Amino acid sequence: MITPKIPKIIFGGDYFPEQWPREIWKEDIRLMKKANVNMVSIAIFTWALIQPDEDTYNFDWLDDIMNLLAENNIYACLATSTAAPPIWLAYKYNDVLPVTESGQKVDYGSRQAYCINSPTYRKFIRKLAEKIADRYKKHKALALWHINNEYANKNQMCFCENCAKQFREWLKEKYDTIDNLNETWGTVFWGEKYFEWEQVNTPKASSGSRNSTKLLDYKRFLSESFFTLYRQEYDVLRNITPNIPITTNFEGDWRKFDHSLFKDSLDVVSWNCYPDPANPDSRKWAAMRHSMMRSLLGKPFMLMEQAPSQVDWYPVNINKPPGLMRLWSYQALAHGSDAVMYFQWRASKKGAERYHSGMVPHFGEDSRVFKEICGLGNELEKVKDIIGSNTDSKVAIVMDNDSWWTVDNPYGSAGSKSLDNETFWNANAQPFPTVLVSYFSELEYYFNAFYDLNIPVDVIPVHYDFSKYKIVVAPLLHLIKPGFKEAVEKFVEDGGIFITTYFTGLIDESVGVYLDGYPGPLKNVMGIKVEEYNPLPLGGKNAMKMNAAIDGFKKDYECSVWCDVIHTTTARPLAAFVNGYYAGNPSFTENQFGKGKAYYVGTRPDKNFMKDFLMNILAVQKIDVPDLPDDVELMTRSKDGKTCHFYLNYSEIEKKIKLPLGRYEDIISGNVCEKVLTLPKYGVSILNKK
Ligand code: GLA
Repeated sequence: MITPKIPKIIFGGDYFPEQWPREIWKEDIRLMKKANVNMVSIAIFTWALIQPDEDTYNFDWLDDIMNLLAENNIYACLATSTAAPPIWLAYKYNDVLPVTESGQKVDYGSRQAYCINSPTYRKFIRKLAEKIADRYKKHKALALWHINNEYANKNQMCFCENCAKQFREWLKEKYDTIDNLNETWGTVFWGEKYFEWEQVNTPKASSGSRNSTKLLDYKRFLSESFFTLYRQEYDVLRNITPNIPITTNFEGDWRKFDHSLFKDSLDVVSWNCYPDPANPDSRKWAAMRHSMMRSLLGKPFMLMEQAPSQVDWYPVNINKPPGLMRLWSYQALAHGSDAVMYFQWRASKKGAERYHSGMVPHFGEDSRVFKEICGLGNELEKVKDIIGSNTDSKVAIVMDNDSWWTVDNPYGSAGSKSLDNETFWNANAQPFPTVLVSYFSELEYYFNAFYDLNIPVDVIPVHYDFSKYKIVVAPLLHLIKPGFKEAVEKFVEDGGIFITTYFTGLIDESVGVYLDGYPGPLKNVMGIKVEEYNPLPLGGKNAMKMNAAIDGFKKDYECSVWCDVIHTTTARPLAAFVNGYYAGNPSFTENQFGKGKAYYVGTRPDKNFMKDFLMNILAVQKIDVPDLPDDVELMTRSKDGKTCHFYLNYSEIEKKIKLPLGRYEDIISGNVCEKVLTLPKYGVSILNKK
């Protein structure tokens, strides 16, 4: 259960009463009750209201709102307000505002304008969290803490003097001596030797490409800084309210910090899910991110924000046509959410987000969107028994921030240029084999291939225990950490199937290349040695010819992006490249290792290959592939030996689904069905076996 105070699916949204006159508050409560809202997130951006100057705190308005909610049995997911520091703070204290890579101070005037390592900001947020927690610790409405808001979304990656100083401390802790640092960073290359700690700066743009290990270390340092920032508030809240669960809402963009750092300091994972209704692959987009969130703690998560209809930040913001908001809400539940929440309750009248949809649109109560909100909020009463239930995935994809940070390089060797906030995380800023590989896209490619077959997949951080899965995929695992080799070998020895791909196992934790063939430490379990690689030009193709003895594969497949030149040691080649000087060399190999098998895919194969390959290994591992019409998804959640089957129809036409033997009750409609389930356009059924 997300919070013991709400033994139901949590339904509500971000609520900003401070944007409205008090007469509206009562109306809000009436409409919330009509929509069956049971929790709202409040005080997310209200620091300036709570603390108008350094010595004054004013909680009157927040007391009134908390009381109003409590009187009406609506709970508060109470935020700490720290995502929007007040202007007086930045005006008064010089170290609060962040500094860009090119040395420019980012001014106040929006939210998240703070340096994540600023001692002043950190001191003030601790104090604020303490004041809020002390004031509301016993309040009936308090159900959940909401720390900050979407770390890293608009936070400027900072290069200020204070960050530089703390980076040096972090490095001293890690390397102990400057000689170790020089050795690990390989500073003998281009004579970049540091003679004393004070000379170590942040990896800002210079005259040419920067030091790879230093850049990676800075990303690791900033990633940890987000976590230590979170802990400033977490420790205060935990101490004052040991029994109130704590969350922070993630943006879903794992690239900017390693979310697994938060694992032991989060009671519930929550995230903000904004797929684009104009994108036909949105459901896959959302499914993968729901999986990442679910897998972080291995238990139900919260859909903390979604748009009731359109957002205002895609280039073109189409609205969600009737039924789609409901369908996507159920998709989140199907993938393990125990909450359906929105940004935001009432569409704003003023400010940057006035064109963003709200549960109560500008048009008001009599609007299509509000009617759909009411319909769903009341319907969710019927599905409350699913809370606390888990999905059961037999397949895992492992993801790793270090590999991400060292693979993605969409700007080529943009080494000497300053990178803007967004591209800083994307850009490796190193000379690199190709700008056409993208770490996360490769993960998505594999995720989507399983998703297309309706196979649930957990997406887990690389250092998590994966021994319970039957198939583990590590696409583009460029950097191999200590311990991974042993974990994979044991997993395969015990009967698991492990898959990895091209450009895996090139470097170690210090960005030192593994000599004597890739994939470095995984050579043994894969039974191969990669001698060289050949990235293909944009649109370039090769083909894979399957070895005649392999069942279940069509003869030839296309492949693109990359070709590895592979030597087998103990592995069996299953397919060979058709073109290039390496024509006839293996492109795809299988290595029997103990009771299991390890597959190496030395290229990006086409979707036909992916389907045949996955069908093959799923059969070996006895994982059933459900027989479903196109555009229908099936997910299950189980608890106490009972399983709910979620069927979701994403198409615009009715679908008929063949059901496994037995009689089923749809917990939404109450209908009983057998043999065939008919789902209308955007229809959802949650079936329980009778
Ligand atoms: C994010 C933020 C919200 C709001 C929405 C708009 O998720 O957390 O405050 O800005 O985006 O889509």
